[in-house]
Amino acid sequence: MKKNILNRPFPNLIFIFKNLSSRKEVDQDLFFFQTGREAFIYGLEKMGIRKGSKILLPAFICDSLAAFIISEGYKIRYVDINMDMSIDLYEIESIFQLENISAFLFVYFFGISFDIKPFLKLCNKYNVPLIEDCSHSFQTKILNNNIGTFGDFTIYSFRKILPTSDGGAIRFKKEINKSYKNKISFSLKNDLIYLIARLVEIFIRNVLNINIYSKKITNLKNKIRNLIPVNKIERQKLIKSKNKISFLLNIFLTNKNYLSENIKIRNDNFNFLLKEVKAMGLKPFITKIKKSTCPQFFIIKDDHGGLVDRLNSGGIGAIQWPGDELPKEIYEHPILYPNSIKLNKMLVYIPIHQNLNKESFKEMLILLSKWKLKIES
Ligand SMILES: Cc1ncc(COP(=O)(O)O)c(C=O)c1O
Repeated sequence: MKKNILNRPFPNLIFIFKNLSSRKEVDQDLFFFQTGREAFIYGLEKMGIRKGSKILLPAFICDSLAAFIISEGYKIRYVDINMDMSIDLYEIESIFQLENISAFLFVYFFGISFDIKPFLKLCNKYNVPLIEDCSHSFQTKILNNNIGTFGDFTIYSFRKILPTSDGGAIRFKKEINKSYKNKISFSLKNDLIYLIARLVEIFIRNVLNINIYSKKITNLKNKIRNLIPVNKIERQKLIKSKNKISFLLNIFLTNKNYLSENIKIRNDNFNFLLKEVKAMGLKPFITKIKKSTCPQFFIIKDDHGGLVDRLNSGGIGAIQWPGDELPKEIYEHPILYPNSIKLNKMLVYIPIHQNLNKESFKEMLILLSKWKLKIES
């Protein structure tokens, strides 16, 4: 079997060792957490938004965030998105007029450069804090500014783009008193165990020649996951930012060359797949991106159904999003949230991260052209 296309970047060991001594300090404006969801709750609390307040969220969202917000005592008001993943400004305005909304979460889905300015104006008019969600990608620029520089605060989940295990973070627009300096420290969980887990993944893929995305392995992974006792998030916990970040996060987040390569490779891979997929007659979801966009995935429309399974069985770490993690409140109300439900079923996300290049996609493109022939017959 051929090598799988991993769905997340791999922490290159040579790169890590080479850069161990040239590490830079992380941005002291950032407050760090293990996850982006913790950063979000911390931000609400620091803004003085009380538990029980209603937060406006796009309905196209994953339950790991939504359930956490609810478990922390906040209420969620969902709004459906448009079929291009944008949000209807007029609908937001009418919600602001009719309901008591304490904050609005603006998500840059998959790094797409949506125009936040009209929402910024609207939120100012109604005095609703605007939160930018750069969890899917943090390097996209709008009008020469990095996303994440407009709202009252911004949340990040660097682990979705960088090969690290921690990486929740928040940046406030106004200065917030911080009584400590962010420090880098070796973390057993986020450095050692993470690296071992990733090496095991590569061993299974390269040495044992096993497709880690096959149904069998996915079921096995789920079974193992279910055996691990989860911290049921029933009780509200005090969310504190951590002053220590892992070595790995520090290395990748502060290396300018790595980051500029990252945006270039993702952009090139996206444009390469765009050309190939169009030529095949398949339907890309986004048909153009700017050089200043750092996409998380390449997205294909699958009206037929079954493409993710087909790609997974061919060793490609493609996903659906949020997939099974679409909140119950959304999938139980198709009249209220038709677009989020449709997009959840229809879109297939293909990895284009920094470890991949044109060569990596060769076999996948053959698989896609066979798929196209099959659905036409
Ligand atoms: C849009 C969006 N925001 C925030 C989060 C939360 O990030 P984390 O998983 O780091 O808590 C997610 C996570 O899945 C997400 O998809």
